[in-house]
Amino acid sequence: MSLSSDQLTLALSPRPVHYYDSIGSTNDAATEWLLAGAPNGSVVVADEQTHGRGRFGRTWYTPPQTALAVSVILYPDIAHLPQVNMAAALAIQEAVKVLGAEDVTLKWPNDVLLGERKICGILPEIARDSDNVARGVVLGIGVNVRNGFAGTALEASATSLEAALQRPVERTALLSVILFRLEHWLGQLGSAALLNSYQAAISFIGQPITLYAVDVTYHGVAARVASDGALIVRFADGREQAMYAGEVSLHSAGNTV
Ligand code: BTN
Repeated sequence: MSLSSDQLTLALSPRPVHYYDSIGSTNDAATEWLLAGAPNGSVVVADEQTHGRGRFGRTWYTPPQTALAVSVILYPDIAHLPQVNMAAALAIQEAVKVLGAEDVTLKWPNDVLLGERKICGILPEIARDSDNVARGVVLGIGVNVRNGFAGTALEASATSLEAALQRPVERTALLSVILFRLEHWLGQLGSAALLNSYQAAISFIGQPITLYAVDVTYHGVAARVASDGALIVRFADGREQAMYAGEVSLHSAGNTV
């Protein structure tokens, strides 16, 4: 089903919504709106993104009619910034479960997986004004709803909700549940409940992993997640290190540095 501005406005009320049939990136549109004074909780949605972006400056493909591309404007306490990511990941996991999906887990720091494959990525960005002052956060969420990955480089690592569930998924309804649950978890920023729920939703805590950081690869056990969002990796000699960014992959061959 197509997205429409009227339907989104009705379903997401009272949140202010800006809808675009096609835009470069919803995160850019949301940043502009934030800096112009958008209220907390305002939402930017697009059917197509021509310059969608993911982590590490990667391209995030959003062809028309395939995905949920949304950015939420937030003004959280800066001390709780890392937990906004956790709140979003949990909200998306819950919304996907509401659709009937079972094996939905989180992959630190900001992916949602269905089985072994990614169905959603989250990109939180700090919006800064022309004096470089942080004015708020734009929380970008990209859900693969009916993207086709067959024959692409992502075939083994990504899937879509409709492919996994074998039935149509209505994007406006999905977004409405995500935002409902996001509101709940944003009310828990800084709490042990949020941190514990996020950690419990990560499938590889306690397991041997490989972590690819910018120019170093680490092997260790994913011990836990800290309240500042770091993944604590424990090495074979007992040392622990807090990791703030990187790609995790599971491995089974011991846990050496
Ligand atoms: C990632 O996994 O690398 C994060 C992907 C985030 C994609 C979303 S789609 C909506 C918003 N606008 C963007 O340009 N990116 C985010």
